[in-house]
Amino acid sequence: MLNDKISLDCITCDKSYGYDYSDFYCECGDLLEVKFKSLPDLSKEQIRLRSTNFASKVQSGVWRFKEWHLDLEESSICSRNEGNTNLYNSSLLSEYTGINQLRIKHEGENPSGSFKDRGMTTAISMAKLLGYKAVACASTGNTSASMASYAASCGLKAFVFIPEGKISFGKLSQSLAYGAHTLQIKGNFDDALDLVQEICKRKGIYLLNSLNPYRIEGQKSIFFEMMQQLNYKVPDWIILPGGNLGNISALGKGACELFEWGVIDKIPRFAVVQAQGANPFYTMMSSRAHHLEKMTPETIATAIRIGNPVSWKKAQKIVTKSKGYVTQVSEEEIIEAKVMVDRSGIGAEPASCCSIAGLKKLHNQKVIQANESVVAVLTGHVLKDPDNNVKIHTNMDSPFYNGAIKLSNNTDEIETTIDKLLLDSSC
Ligand code: F0G
Repeated sequence: MLNDKISLDCITCDKSYGYDYSDFYCECGDLLEVKFKSLPDLSKEQIRLRSTNFASKVQSGVWRFKEWHLDLEESSICSRNEGNTNLYNSSLLSEYTGINQLRIKHEGENPSGSFKDRGMTTAISMAKLLGYKAVACASTGNTSASMASYAASCGLKAFVFIPEGKISFGKLSQSLAYGAHTLQIKGNFDDALDLVQEICKRKGIYLLNSLNPYRIEGQKSIFFEMMQQLNYKVPDWIILPGGNLGNISALGKGACELFEWGVIDKIPRFAVVQAQGANPFYTMMSSRAHHLEKMTPETIATAIRIGNPVSWKKAQKIVTKSKGYVTQVSEEEIIEAKVMVDRSGIGAEPASCCSIAGLKKLHNQKVIQANESVVAVLTGHVLKDPDNNVKIHTNMDSPFYNGAIKLSNNTDEIETTIDKLLLDSSC
């Protein structure tokens, strides 16, 4: 029984609740997180064997680590074999950021195209286990795409709350296609998150935003899988974009737990990168304020267009504990980094590329040294935001112009054009 293994504990006071407690907030008003009642029993060899056990749900890059998060029976697991994402080297991106030992963990390679699938498989499995018939979330697009997909695959009704006109087409199209009921709300993500919480309470619908502690549990596996891929050699830094700050909270929790359990010998330093136009956490941390001031967000990186991140306290803890860093990047820096990530052949959506933009900046500012080992997390697939891909490369005034060349149906003309391009060393 899960009750014997875990509890839901407040992140600030000493109150503790059972796994089936129906709220995600403590009576004191702060968020809850999963605490383990005893040392989980899972060996590196078991993990290695599960990785090749293709007939089983524990081959998933989330569930092969299940003792380190939610140790459910296989029959209770709703999985799309998420995780198993690549850890790339890229000489182009090493040169661009100035970091020699750079690895890139591409979470856009998950089934619905973003890291959200890792937390979704755990939280939606809990929704089923707890007997819910419907799930809901507010989203800048990726959580909703992921939730819609998982809800469809395990037969739950799904309600998606999205900020009107503020999410990319690729993501909106996913939740429509997967059959979720999509509600466009006037206002931004933060407004939608307030509303969905209220509605979930009134209607007894299970909330699947990252304030749900079971989302965080699954997302820890980004760190676990990275460790497995690096043979448990902890990098000096992990760098990732920050929006609602669930992901940094998850990776940080996973790293602290593995250190506590003696699996790894140090906690990596965590660097969080925000877009300058959606930077409340950066502002708070850089001014050493004790509270986060919400703001009205605006950025091309629509996934992280968030002005009132719900998990800021959890994120603050891990950045402080890991001697980490929080930085911000401009729209121009995000676009330039995205062009580089895409040109490297790896490709990612704009918000993801904050990792690379931030890494370049932190190296220039001598916060991260050239010879330190770094894992940069890319959070979403390049096809998540096709509009921006086309916009960036079809603007004639842009240095990144790469528009389609219009030609007639004539072999000679095509050949002449290709000859010119073959000789052109600038492209
Ligand atoms: N990158 C991408 C591609 C995202 O979709 C998000 C968040 C983040 C980074 C930031 O992660 O919120 O845990 O700090 N997207 C959420 C959504 C908010 O609704 O899809 P975070």
